[in-house]
Formats: sequence, structure tokens, C-alpha cells
Amino acid sequence: MSEARDDVSFRDALPEEPGEGAWDRVWIGAHLATMQENGAADGDAPRGRAPYGVLHDAAIAVRGERIAWVGPAALARRAPALRQAEVHEVAGAWITPGLIDCHTHLVYGGNRVGEYERRLCGASYAEIAREGGGIQATVRATRAASAADLREQATLRARRLMAEGVTTIEVKSGYGLELATERRILEVARSLERDLPVSVATTFLGLHALPDEYGADRQAYIDAVSGPWLSELAAAGLVDAVDAFCESIAFSIAETEQYLSCARALGLPMHLHAGQLSDLGAAELAAKFGALSADHLEYLGVEGARALARSGTVAVLLPGAYFTLRQTEPPPVAALRAAGVPIAVATDCNPGTSPCTSLLLAMNMACTLFGLTPLEAIHGTTSAAARALGIAADRGTLAAGKRADFALWHIDRPAELCYGLGANPCVGVVHRGRLREP
Ligand code: NIG
Ligand code: FE
Repeated sequence: MSEARDDVSFRDALPEEPGEGAWDRVWIGAHLATMQENGAADGDAPRGRAPYGVLHDAAIAVRGERIAWVGPAALARRAPALRQAEVHEVAGAWITPGLIDCHTHLVYGGNRVGEYERRLCGASYAEIAREGGGIQATVRATRAASAADLREQATLRARRLMAEGVTTIEVKSGYGLELATERRILEVARSLERDLPVSVATTFLGLHALPDEYGADRQAYIDAVSGPWLSELAAAGLVDAVDAFCESIAFSIAETEQYLSCARALGLPMHLHAGQLSDLGAAELAAKFGALSADHLEYLGVEGARALARSGTVAVLLPGAYFTLRQTEPPPVAALRAAGVPIAVATDCNPGTSPCTSLLLAMNMACTLFGLTPLEAIHGTTSAAARALGIAADRGTLAAGKRADFALWHIDRPAELCYGLGANPCVGVVHRGRLREP
């Protein structure tokens, strides 16, 4: 494999000699895209002279489930710790942090392929929704599904993401819209992490749509979700964060604010579906609550971008939904960059607007449709995605002390992760320090 020498090598990176600590496993001879920037905080907008934080002919050593050391292969080969370790010679491979899909609706019943087909035969989204289709169709299918059915379907989707180097998946509820089914979705999401070598972050998307049975009393639904439902699910340890669909066709700023206030009182982190179809000021609301992320953002003004930057809220771009809905206004990437907002990229995997189980495809679309650079897109699924989930201290870059989650790739340079359409160059994944098939 040819080396991309337009990036930097160890001479610039000042690696340290390995210390005395023991190593369990070492991957040696690879090109590492550590995704660390010179002195920049994790997830900060890419800058400086070390794009991708590249280290050539490098080694990464693991102790337990943590990265013990990162540095030049030559130093690793001399280290006493190498003698006791399991050594993987991977000359020519590239290693990145394990990819993080920071926005999915992975757990749902049924699918909406029939609606997709009807739309392509001329039916409109609104017509289908009026007939009880759309989110409500998935809600019915999800309520009818057993936990085992939901787990089986979600496992298939999770495995497709994992095959492309994904080691952490955020999973939202929101297709139950009744307490028992919301609980079942979150329990299934948690169970994925027990059954599969992948990590899961759960999100209670209580305000996704108004269920039919509350059609006559919106306020009663918002009160229930924000009060007893949220408290019960959080007390059961099922809620890592909350989310709401703040949009003209979903929940207003005032309704969303009531819900977020209750989440804040419980100390829960927040995401927000903001600016997908119109600019209600949801990004400003996310910023006001110090949300971890504001997601979609096709409709976002300069003030909204500045507010996100001030609160350190990550902009999560979801090109799969933009593509499927055939939208024409991309998110204002230039304004996000100018304001200094960290940018993440995710699949938004869901049955209606983004039936996408390829994070690499989402990265390609973020570049081709939204104009992100490959460097930004790869930060978007590593360092910035970790920040969007509030786990940047633990994941998202390759550095000593971080979780040993990384992916091995058969590529010539990092941008190739964004370049292919339908290609999967992943040749190995390490999750919590253990090698698994991709
Ligand atoms: O992220 N925006 C709201 N929710 C989903 C789609 C919901 C559906 O159509 O099932 C989204 O795009
Ligand atoms: Fe979504």
C-alpha cells in the first residue's frame, strides 16, 4: 500500500518512550490516524499542522480495555512490555478510532418499504401520513412487536454498522409513544450492548410524534412524557440522554422547553432534532439548555450557529435523511465553520427518512452533498461524535488512557473512507481491547 506523505510523521509528533507498564496486545507497523490535533481539545474543529493526527509506521498497545501506549513501531519493538504481549503485525494497514454513530433510531418494528414504493409511484408524504402512515405506522408495528422481534431486527442493523468499524452506537426510542413500548425499546437497546461487541448510548426520544390516543389532549401527553415517564425510565437506568423532535410538524419550542426543563432537573444530557424542515429557533433552544448536540440543522441561521458555538453544542449532520427526503437546502456548513461549531456526522438510521445502515455512506454524503472535507467527516464520526455523546474523555481519538476501540482499514489514505460508494475497506475491529471480525 502506498503511503500518503502529504501528512506528518513522528518527527513532528514527539512520541514518548514506552513506560514500564505491561501490555496485553500490540498492533504494530500501521499508519495511525489518531484524530488528535496539536494541542486542540478533543472534538475541536480540525486545525493545526497534523491533519488526522497521522503517525506512520506506528504501534498501538493495549492493556485490558484501555490504550496503554501509542508511538513509533521502532520504539515499541524495543519495549520490554512487547515480550509478554500478543503481537499483531499489520504493516500497511491504517488504524482509526472506532467509528461512532451518534444518531440512530435503530430499534423499531416493521419497515416502510411500501411507503417508499408508493411515494415513487406518485403518492405524497402528506397523503400517506393522512392515511395513518409515516411515524404512526412504525409506532403501530413497534407496539405490536415483541422484545425478541425488536432485538432480532435491531441486531441485524447493528451488525451492518459494526461491519464498517462502528464501535459505539447511539440508539433513540420514540416509536413507542406509550410508556411500556418506550421502555421495551430502551431495554432492547441496552441488551444489544450485552449481546454484541459494541457499545450503546441510549436516548429517550419522548417527544417524537403525538400518539393518536392523545390527539385530543396534546398537553396531557407532554405532561406525561416530561413527568412520570421520564422519571421512571431514568430511575430504571435506561436513559443516557433525552431528545425531542422540535419542528412545525412535531413539537413547539414551548412544549420542547417544558420537556428539557424536566430532563435538566434530573441531570440528564440532551440532544435535539432541530431545523430539519424549518427554523423555529430549536438550535438556540438546544444552546440555551447546553445540549450535547443539535441534529439535522438544514434550517439554521447565523445566530443559531453562533449560539451552538457558545454553548459547545455539537452540530450533528444527517445527510441520509436529507438525501431520502430529496431536500435541496443543505445545512449551512460555512456558517458552522465560521462560528467554530464542532461538526459530527451520523446515519439517522430509521425506517422513514433514512433507512441507512452505512456510516461510511453517511460520511460520503456529508462530503459530496454538504461539502464537508474528508478530514471533517472523519472527525465527524470519531472525535466530534464522541463529544456529541458526552464521551470525548473516553473515546473518539487514539491516545493512551482512552478506551481501546479502533478499526483497521485496507486503504491508501484516510480520505478513502469517504471516497467509496458501497465499499467496505474495514479489515478488523478492536472493541474494549479485544479483536473482533468487523
Ligand atoms: O430523524 N425527524 C424525526 N424523526 C426521524 C424520522 C422519523 C420517521 O419518519 O420515522 C428522523 O428523520
Ligand atoms: Fe433522527
